[in-house]
Amino acid sequence: MKQNLILCGFMGCGKSTIGRRLAALSGRELVDMDAFIQQEQTMTISEIFSRFGESAFRKMETDAARALSQREGLVIACGGGTVLNPENVELLKKSGVILLLDVPLPALQERLKNDTQRPLLQRPDRREFIETLHAQRMPLYRQAADYVVPAGAPGNVVAKTILKMLGEEETS
Ligand code: S3P
Repeated sequence: MKQNLILCGFMGCGKSTIGRRLAALSGRELVDMDAFIQQEQTMTISEIFSRFGESAFRKMETDAARALSQREGLVIACGGGTVLNPENVELLKKSGVILLLDVPLPALQERLKNDTQRPLLQRPDRREFIETLHAQRMPLYRQAADYVVPAGAPGNVVAKTILKMLGEEETS
């Protein structure tokens, strides 16, 4: 069976969009970790943060990483914070390879400027916050990743690049 392809990176880097294309091209099933958690909890990520707090959400993320790492043949689109926890990295790596989607900061700022869904970004100093968080997180993403993928191009193009990097054939 096919190893899992695990997409990580900053909010807005295209984990879900590229994940969808990559799943189709590689003959895998896409699992979006945030969507998985929302389904399990029957609540949105925003509701989970506001009712139970971020640390409760982080525990749910580790439970999701544990459950998904038992499966194979998946493209897993992580949340932006998932691979910051070494326990999650260890769990996920057992099931496949971790790919960092690297999108330049100005493009991320543009994509995230009007976001209303991500609880961490609902603050007046959003731009500065993103800049600081990005600088803090990039080294950790790089540390977790087996591959770093330049990901500013359209989803289909990035998905094809990933398959080439991995030496896999397209199935569709
Ligand atoms: C988070 C990113 C979000 C979601 C949650 C926390 C983060 O996922 O998991 O809001 O800590 O960066 P996306 O990267 O899919 O937005």
